[in-house]
Amino acid sequence: MHIHSADFVCSNNDITKCPEPNKPEYAFIGRSNVGKSTLINKMVQRKGLAKTSGRPGKTQLINHFLINEAWYLTDLPGYGYAKVSKTSKEKFQKLIEDYIIERPNLVNLFVLIDSRHEPQKIDLEFMEWLGELEIPFSMVFTKTDKLGSGKLNTNIKVYSKKMLQTWAEMPVFFATSAETGEGCDQVLNYIEQLNNQ
Ligand code: GTP
Ligand code: MG
Repeated sequence: MHIHSADFVCSNNDITKCPEPNKPEYAFIGRSNVGKSTLINKMVQRKGLAKTSGRPGKTQLINHFLINEAWYLTDLPGYGYAKVSKTSKEKFQKLIEDYIIERPNLVNLFVLIDSRHEPQKIDLEFMEWLGELEIPFSMVFTKTDKLGSGKLNTNIKVYSKKMLQTWAEMPVFFATSAETGEGCDQVLNYIEQLNNQ
């Protein structure tokens, strides 16, 4: 898919203030620091559109971007950041959950997972929760530039094996790098395919 426009629409911590749900929407979610904001910028080729940081906990609000004047790409706060207070963690958790449950135009969630790590309980539980609610999602393995292709394939195999303990099949997944751009076209083409359904 060719990106001819990518515009920031709004940031907020109130679901009722999100843009009118009149266009298909795709959201990036995952642990803090997994690379959600950086991958959004790479995918739409706009450095600095989504705010990024080497320190976890950067994105604290729901950020809507309008792509090609046709669909929304949404950057969500990360989950699982240990260093925030319990109250703040619960507040984020509730914001994310409310958004996922209540956003009627959400077509697909992209659950980002750091390709370097073994399957983490928090991600597995999050995906199980999505499954229980029948929320469509795909997995996006990030930061593949930090691994050799052999190690990447091994890690994905380990992940698939783990997923198949609870899932009938492995969800659609992508291997991406915001450094090299690997996988960005595949994610965009998948979005295009879903937009056309
Ligand atoms: P929160 O907003 O805190 O939830 O984090 P996030 O998931 O949006 O992560 P962010 O995009 O801010 O990136 C976190 C760090 O990882 C930054 O230092 C990025 O430069 C780095 N990073 C993100 N993607 C990649 C990647 O594909 N490769 C490499 N090498 N580094 C990456
Ligand atoms: Mg972010």
